[in-house]
Amino acid sequence: MAALQKPVSSSVMGILAAGCLLFIALWAQGGAAGPVSSHCKLDKSYFSGYITNHTFLLAAEASLADNNTDVRLIKNNFFSGIHKNKHCYLMKQVLNFTLEEVLPPQSDRFQRYMKEVVAFFSKCSKELSLCHIRGDDQHIQRKVQELKDTVTELGESAGIKAIGELNLLFMNLKDACVLTE
Ligand SMILES: *[C@@H]1O[C@H](CO)[C@@H](O)[C@H](O)[C@H]1NC(C)=O
Ligand SMILES: *[C@@H]1O[C@H](CO)[C@@H](O)[C@H](O)[C@H]1NC(C)=O
Ligand SMILES: *[C@@H]1O[C@H](CO)[C@@H](O)[C@H](O)[C@H]1NC(C)=O
Repeated sequence: MAALQKPVSSSVMGILAAGCLLFIALWAQGGAAGPVSSHCKLDKSYFSGYITNHTFLLAAEASLADNNTDVRLIKNNFFSGIHKNKHCYLMKQVLNFTLEEVLPPQSDRFQRYMKEVVAFFSKCSKELSLCHIRGDDQHIQRKVQELKDTVTELGESAGIKAIGELNLLFMNLKDACVLTE
């Protein structure tokens, strides 16, 4: 009996081991079940009342200087057509572009809050550095490209507008990346 059982149990062990390896491989990739890596999130505590207040004050100050009220960079339907679990990845791209291209020429303006608000967004961007999605992200890149095109069209005034919309960036980032139970 023992001799008969042995091959059976070892093949069961083999299947279990293979399953276990597969599971580990999937887990190491961040779980292949979802298309989004587990790094696409930010802790709720980042979005403190203090930084919320100062981001909104900075945005309000800048939007007074923005006299082109017809155009918005972050539109109301910004997420339309994008699955909810990819919103944080999209915001990561927006954040990266804003920090790398849009804000730096403006860094001497609105000095009262600029530095700490940029530091906050930079921290979030760093935290999201491992946030990836697997497979095709063309529809997301298209959204980001639309934003880049608008910034190009606006030219110099894009910077002021981007600062005036930092409250929207803030809220969208929070909505997209803070997990709600
Ligand atoms: C927001 O920040 C400003 C400037 O630091 C401060 O005067 C004001 O009391 C704050 N408001 C709230 C609601 O925390
Ligand atoms: C916006 O206001 C600035 C002065 O603050 C002015 O130089 C600029 O021409 C105005 N732009 C538009 C589109 O009215
Ligand atoms: C933006 O993305 C590039 C490429 O992934 C990265 O090297 C850079 O550090 C990012 N910049 C910010 C401000 O997060």
